[in-house]
Amino acid sequence: MQQFDSGVSVTGSGSAKLETTLSNDDLSKIVETSDEWIATRTGIRQRHIAGPQDSLRSLAAEAAKNAIAMANLAPVDIDLIILATSTPDDLFGTASQVQVEIGAFRAAAFDLTAACSGFIFALVTAAQYIRTGVYKNIVVIGADLLSRWTDWGDRRTCVLFGDGAGAVVVQADQRDRLLGFELCSDGTLNHCLNLTYHSESQPLTGDITVHSGRFAPITMNGREVYRFAVSKVPEVIEKALFHAGLSTSDIRWLLLHQANQRILEAVAQRLQVPLERVISNMARHGNTSAASIPIALDEAVRDSRIQPGDIVASSGFGAGLTWGAAIFEWG
Ligand code: ACO
Repeated sequence: MQQFDSGVSVTGSGSAKLETTLSNDDLSKIVETSDEWIATRTGIRQRHIAGPQDSLRSLAAEAAKNAIAMANLAPVDIDLIILATSTPDDLFGTASQVQVEIGAFRAAAFDLTAACSGFIFALVTAAQYIRTGVYKNIVVIGADLLSRWTDWGDRRTCVLFGDGAGAVVVQADQRDRLLGFELCSDGTLNHCLNLTYHSESQPLTGDITVHSGRFAPITMNGREVYRFAVSKVPEVIEKALFHAGLSTSDIRWLLLHQANQRILEAVAQRLQVPLERVISNMARHGNTSAASIPIALDEAVRDSRIQPGDIVASSGFGAGLTWGAAIFEWG
């Protein structure tokens, strides 16, 4: 057993409420698709879209405040904020804006980008600061407004994504409840899922040319990503379980990135986890990237499905390609 200065507990969760929903029927007025196609292939029936008054900052802050309240902490108790996002308000980082909005004036704050794996990567990063005894109270936020970068004319992708924000509080604890984790990346598969910067040359002076441009909408090879997810996610969960000294029969809740209901079911089947132990809010939220795991966690905690002491096996996967798993005991 590894020895740490401090154990790690996940003690609070929160999410943001988005009013506007976009149904499959709404989408069928924009692109050639149908509720039947989308629901059968993905399990999605609607997704939330941020309103004109919303920003990544405001939604991330709402989720963070709710998580801090559940953990019975005040914003000034927070030492660090890690904001997992691929869709910041500001490419220099949005976490500091969240810091000021929630009044966490003592906290350092930074963004972390690992696409749909972002929440798991951020959770594990937070745990390292706690285990080394540097910080005691950390807010980990997963927030993404994918509607900003969706190609609304591409039916292969636009039916999948939605907007959202979720957060957890991670605290130092005498007992270590982050039982095991594993993080992975494979850049050889980077081309499967991209939100790429495209630039044009702009001669500046003499032989100096700068290249400025913009990010293009999301592109994805759906079949490749599907194949990758159903083979790599069970594997990474099994590795994290191994580090935890646990087996799949110890899993009370399987909490996967909400990308596609068929992926959730295929992974559960491979791990032999019964479907009633699989948390899914696909139908109501679609794929909210880094936000999907903390939103689903928060819903299951607040409706009392997840109880203190329950073992949660969580796993994120997505662009990079990146994937990872964290096994933790809730509460
Ligand atoms: N409505 C109607 N028809 C459609 C739609 C749509 N929205 N989208 C595609 N089709 C058509 C295609 O044009 C194709 O028609 P064709 O055979 O005449 O060419 C047919 O349906 C089949 O298309 P496929 O792309 O092969 O459909 P597939 O069964 O693979 O389902 C899907 C597509 C749902 C995207 C699936 O591949 C998938 O879920 N992949 C995983 C994607 C994923 O999880 N991405 C997110 C993870 S990473 C992250 O979260 C950012």
